Amino acid sequence: MSIKASLISISAYVPDLLLSNQDLERMVETSDEWIVKRTGIKTRYIANKNESTSDLGYKAAKLAIKRSNLNVDDIDCIICATISPDHLCMPSTACKIAHKLGIYGITAFDISAACTGFIYLLEIAKSFIQSGLKKNILIIGAEKLSSIVNWNDRSTCILFGDGAGAAVISASKDENFIIDTHTASDGSKNDLLITPGCGSANPANLENLSQNLQFIHMKGNEVFRIAVNTLSKDVEDILKKNQISSKDIDLFIPHQANLRIINAVKQKLNLKDEQCIITVDRFGNTSSASIPMAMNFAYENNKLKNGDLMLLDAFGGGFTWGSALLKFGGK
Ligand code: UT7
Repeated sequence: MSIKASLISISAYVPDLLLSNQDLERMVETSDEWIVKRTGIKTRYIANKNESTSDLGYKAAKLAIKRSNLNVDDIDCIICATISPDHLCMPSTACKIAHKLGIYGITAFDISAACTGFIYLLEIAKSFIQSGLKKNILIIGAEKLSSIVNWNDRSTCILFGDGAGAAVISASKDENFIIDTHTASDGSKNDLLITPGCGSANPANLENLSQNLQFIHMKGNEVFRIAVNTLSKDVEDILKKNQISSKDIDLFIPHQANLRIINAVKQKLNLKDEQCIITVDRFGNTSSASIPMAMNFAYENNKLKNGDLMLLDAFGGGFTWGSALLKFGGK
């Protein structure tokens, strides 16, 4: 029997500081009513100034390993998806998380796939395990987006939050495995959702910093339209390919960017409320951390049980997008 990859544990870490829409009303020209109507977001959590992305990721990772019933020594690979790494170039956030966990000598690296990060992680982990290269992979989506948000730009600062989610993916003969993943990209519209500065295109210098190029810039309306169309097709394709009906999905756990995007896909698939996990209202958009945070929310609220069939989808900067079908292998 061929080796399968199973998601055997899920966890998350949410920082302490809650930022409400009412708090934002005092910071920029906005209103709770506008934010809730256009996005569904009511609150988000913000890391303190001494907490970096690897601190958030470490806390989620530690709990994911504990819940997997493995020892830290059993982990043979750590991959972190993030667009707000501790450091722009090096070291990777994954290496810093490995050090905080006391794990040395194993493969550790970051990936950059924006909000689709967790789907990319699942695909990479599945391939590493099915090829026999690795046995127990720790995957982490971690973001301190508050560090790359322009707090004077009302069109973006109301959207994002900080947090981390982690999972252990293990080689398994169990029937609860990652059934399929699909990842994709289109770089032609990269300027619609971008942090233009501080890379080699626009290096960190006073002129670029004075133009706020280090922050997230988004043409929200255009991104919204493309996200809805792309995701609606992507989820239909993965269900069709695997001959699974949307009625058979126990939990739809989408990337949490905007309640209207989630509802559009939900309607397209005729999903019922009880099939959908919504956390955008409380956490906002936490990019690569949003799906594992939502999955953990379902788990901790007894909505996700061993063997449950999950459908995941995500769309983000790049553009990147993707979907996944998997059965929960955790206890
Ligand atoms: O996670 C990665 C993928 N990201 C996404 O999927 C995000 C996709 N985009 C969105 O979620 C939505 O486009 C937003 C929530 C970002 C914006 O909603 P929208 O309905 O597309 O609004 P808009 O950008 O078209 O702006 C409508 C109006 C504008 O005013 P005018 O030009 O009509 O007078 C904006 O200036 O709303 C104004 N506006 C605001 N008003 C109050 C923009 N931001 C705010 C704000 N408060 N925070």
